[in-house]
Amino acid sequence: MSSFSTSLSSRTSSSSPFLSNHSSLINSDPSRRSLSFPQGINLDDLCVRSKRKLVQSSVAVGDGFGFCTILRLFLMRLPLVLGAVITKSSSPELKGGPLSIPSQEAEDKLVIESNGGKEHSTVSITVVGASGDLAKKKIFPALFALYYEGCLPEHFTIYGYARSKMTDAELRDMVSKTLTCRIDKRENCGEKMEEFLKRCFYHTGQYDSQEHFVALDKKLKEHEGGRLSNRLFYLSIPPNIFVDAVKCASSSASSSSGWTRVIVEKPFGRDSKTSAALTKSLKQYLEEDQIFRIDHYLGKELVENLSVLRFSNLIFEPLWSRQYIQNVQFIFSEDFGTEGRGGYFDHYGIIRDIMQNHLLQILALFAMETPVSLDAEDIRNEKVKVLRSMRPIQLEDVVIGQYKSTTKGGVTYPGYTDDKTVPKDSLTPTFAAAALFIDNARWDGVPFLMKAGKALHTRSAEIRVQFRHVPGNLYNRNSGGTNLDRTTNELVIRVQPDEGIYLKINNKVPGLGMRLDQSHLNLLYSARYSKEIPDAYERLLLDAIEGERRLFIRSDELDAAWALFTPLLKEIEEKKTIPEFYPHGSRGPVGAHYLAAKHNVQWGDLSLDQ
Ligand code: NDP
Ligand code: BG6
Repeated sequence: MSSFSTSLSSRTSSSSPFLSNHSSLINSDPSRRSLSFPQGINLDDLCVRSKRKLVQSSVAVGDGFGFCTILRLFLMRLPLVLGAVITKSSSPELKGGPLSIPSQEAEDKLVIESNGGKEHSTVSITVVGASGDLAKKKIFPALFALYYEGCLPEHFTIYGYARSKMTDAELRDMVSKTLTCRIDKRENCGEKMEEFLKRCFYHTGQYDSQEHFVALDKKLKEHEGGRLSNRLFYLSIPPNIFVDAVKCASSSASSSSGWTRVIVEKPFGRDSKTSAALTKSLKQYLEEDQIFRIDHYLGKELVENLSVLRFSNLIFEPLWSRQYIQNVQFIFSEDFGTEGRGGYFDHYGIIRDIMQNHLLQILALFAMETPVSLDAEDIRNEKVKVLRSMRPIQLEDVVIGQYKSTTKGGVTYPGYTDDKTVPKDSLTPTFAAAALFIDNARWDGVPFLMKAGKALHTRSAEIRVQFRHVPGNLYNRNSGGTNLDRTTNELVIRVQPDEGIYLKINNKVPGLGMRLDQSHLNLLYSARYSKEIPDAYERLLLDAIEGERRLFIRSDELDAAWALFTPLLKEIEEKKTIPEFYPHGSRGPVGAHYLAAKHNVQWGDLSLDQ
């Protein structure tokens, strides 16, 4: 078993320790193909991931061993080749000074490390804000699931960091009590949990204290035991303290030998200006490719499958344009309110909380052109192009709503402003629907409808693709009625719950007559696959450890996303637009139907035959 690392960081220089220890071959222009190759990358782990990808692919299934061997040989040589190319071009964009062709000594080191590096490298994961809701609910369970599945490196340590006073034992107790994850009912779960908890530690500290991060660094070093250290910091804290924490971690607890990466949770600002300011501040201490901006919807199985569906099935890609698609709908609904998060939510609202990130990211993946490759930069380049081709959103193409209290069956459900952390006169939308347009050759004139709401009648997230009517359809008369919308083909990608993909087709009802109905060609994941679906956070944490950036948001993507929504948000707030009130547990404001109708669309999730 081998691992691979380079000594390139010693040849870089920068004022920030994060920057100076940064290990990738950096091309700071994000629109270019990145030459990043993370230091200390473990080839066997990489192969596990690659094998996983191969196995996932229905066409490329095979013995991953041959692939891994070739990949290993290729990667061992890759930095030498890239180093030579970069030195020759002496790109001024390369931060940290010129990189030279590795000496024979360095090459020998590479070989030694590639032969025995696994024992010599380690990953330390620090969950900053470990006492919080997200850490308990998602991060620790995801880390345990990765451990259970054998996806974490052999040597790893997990540190919880927060201001709350806690001992290691108390952290372990907290983690074990909240470790509700898909692994729960598996064999040896208890045993594995014991092993996992032994690797979890806690450090009490302030987020803006260099001294406390120095103490953390000391503890991390003890666990790393002289191995090549790679460090991942997960910022699971409110956004107003992101920069303080990054500054301290950067100066006092970054790795001195391997890579240092930081996962940043949303919200990434409130608008273009605040987002740009956050990016600028973070970049004082980090390179762009050390920043992993998480959008957990990109880690969801069905979202990950979107590109597979599109680009590996001949039957879909040719239809993927204005010629055949009448409209596309991105729908998010939750059947509960902002319970417990009202303080955060009131400052952001549903457009910032769900639309500007989760739904827009899915839209970009859905609508992008075929990328040159599956390389992170190629995919993100295409997503940015889509975002930049979008027409500014008009207020008249948007409906906002807020849920109000309702009583059903003797039970009273609270309204949004009943939440104690929400001002009584709050106009913050808990529901929004919008029509967006992409002004490019593929999508000209096709409405992309988004709908997101809290406290609705159901919890679901789905993508609905409604195709055009069949021109001169011979069977219109047999489809029962004159409503042509009832006969349109619709492809539904159900992200959650009950993950699945189905296609609504017109079919002859068996019998002597000629009557048509709409039936579903249905791929229900639970019926087709016995394997459970990993949580989005598992995939994203593993990607961050492996240095895979494909599912994380690049800064120019973020800028483009904010550029699209900022003017709209400003207008709504300046005009103090009053949201349409809808009862808790209902289907949302009626205005959403009028908005769809204005664009000749019917919401697919509200049709009788969903
Ligand atoms: P919490 O509000 O639970 O905060 C996390 C921890 O940060 C707390 O336990 C607390 O730890 C510390 N903290 C809280 N407020 C402050 C403050 N004003 N000053 C200093 N420290 C503070 O957040 P969540 O865990 O819910 O979320 C973490 C991040 O993830 C946030 O950015 C959030 O927006 C984002 N997020 C959360 C989701 C969720 O479902 N919870 C979903 C998606 C994103 P201590 O007092 O011990 O220092
Ligand atoms: C978060 C939002 O990003 O996503 C929450 O801040 C929302 O408001 C959550 O509840 C939904 O995530 P999921 O994975 O439960 O659909």
